[in-house]
Amino acid sequence: MQRARITVFDTTLRDGEQSPGCSMNVPEKLRLAHQLDRLGVDVIEAGFPIASEGDFAAVQAIAATIRRPIIAGLARACTQDIERAWQALRGAVRPRIHVFLATSDIHLQYKLKISRQQCLEQARDSVRLAKSLCADVEFSPEDATRTDQKFLHQVLEAVVGAGATTLNIPDTVGYSMPEEFGELIQNIRQRVPDKVTISAHCHNDLGLAVANSLAAIAAGARQVECTINGIGERAGNASLEEIVMAMRVRLDRYPYETGVIAEQLFPASQLLSDLTGSTVQANKAITGRNAFAHEAGIHQDGMLKNPLTYEIMTPQSVGVPDSKLVLGKHSGRHALAIRCEQLGYEFERRALDDIYRRFVRLADKIKKVEDHHLLELIRDTHKPAASATPLFEPLPTAVAAAATASAPEPLRPFPMASQTNAFGAPIPADHHHDQQQEDYLWGV
Ligand code: KIV
Ligand code: ZN
Repeated sequence: MQRARITVFDTTLRDGEQSPGCSMNVPEKLRLAHQLDRLGVDVIEAGFPIASEGDFAAVQAIAATIRRPIIAGLARACTQDIERAWQALRGAVRPRIHVFLATSDIHLQYKLKISRQQCLEQARDSVRLAKSLCADVEFSPEDATRTDQKFLHQVLEAVVGAGATTLNIPDTVGYSMPEEFGELIQNIRQRVPDKVTISAHCHNDLGLAVANSLAAIAAGARQVECTINGIGERAGNASLEEIVMAMRVRLDRYPYETGVIAEQLFPASQLLSDLTGSTVQANKAITGRNAFAHEAGIHQDGMLKNPLTYEIMTPQSVGVPDSKLVLGKHSGRHALAIRCEQLGYEFERRALDDIYRRFVRLADKIKKVEDHHLLELIRDTHKPAASATPLFEPLPTAVAAAATASAPEPLRPFPMASQTNAFGAPIPADHHHDQQQEDYLWGV
């Protein structure tokens, strides 16, 4: 059976980054963009260029560096925004300008203070301007789900006439129900030419963002906008990993395909948490640390007899590292490199060597190196450039805090000073032993 292709539009770097505690600097955004490329997303919304110099620089850097996916930049429906977005995007192989304007009466009356007629003209003129700069133009009627449907259709017809190639329908405040959202999409699909792609952009205020996105796909949407770990304004956006895996696991109900390489989902999730310091809730589907944990005796018994009893997908299928690969002092560079990759980091030989030396020293002290130790070690070994915002407390303070703590906290990131033990206390260096370890494990 022929499966329709769903375009995965990732907005982690734009809508996701807008959420509290998730901001990233330019090098961090570029790193995440590389991982999104490895993940196989079709579109990366790299930022909102008019919003700040940093956002502009990030969009420009991503546009110049990441060559496979479409790179989109957001713009309000006005000349200044659109021209700024185009300046940032023009170096991309496949640039897209994403123009948005609110269409609901609530937004028109209280926020924009314009009439419906003014809104319609502004939307059409802005898309026309964007189209004069860039062939690929997406238009979003913000707060579409609370917009009068007849007016929504008029605006969409006007922007298609002005050259929009994708119509993105946002449930900006996460208000819609799946059936209702499906009907909205179906009504739009019937009114616009086939060559125009319909897209869904759902927020999660009622916990329905993924359900609404799937309903939209079933109703004819062929693009979904989503974020890694579901980060985004308020309760977040639709989670990329949940949409992709729902379609993959339930192919019988959703006969669609995406270009996503599912084994890269967990590394993407880990990298994002690491860059933002915003951890994933333990029971989050697909990427939470309990997503594949079986605690109850009955479940463990079933799992041992046959994993199909309680597992609808394998951890490996979404890139969750094989827990049997325990990292300790006997592990070699190969195992370390694999685990780093699983956590979203690929290193050149020399960079890996730096990490490896410190890894062996650490493994000697704490026996089993957990992922959070390794992430801390990676961060500490390859600190961001001086101009970048530090991701965590400077080392001396962290060490001092750990040394004065009355009891060790098992979940605290390991303080990676080369001269301290797991609880921050000073330990004598043993260079001779380090060297022996290194020689013995070289090339393993
Ligand atoms: O939620 C929203 O309406 C948006 C638009 C800018 C697409 O993020
Ligand atoms: Zn949004």
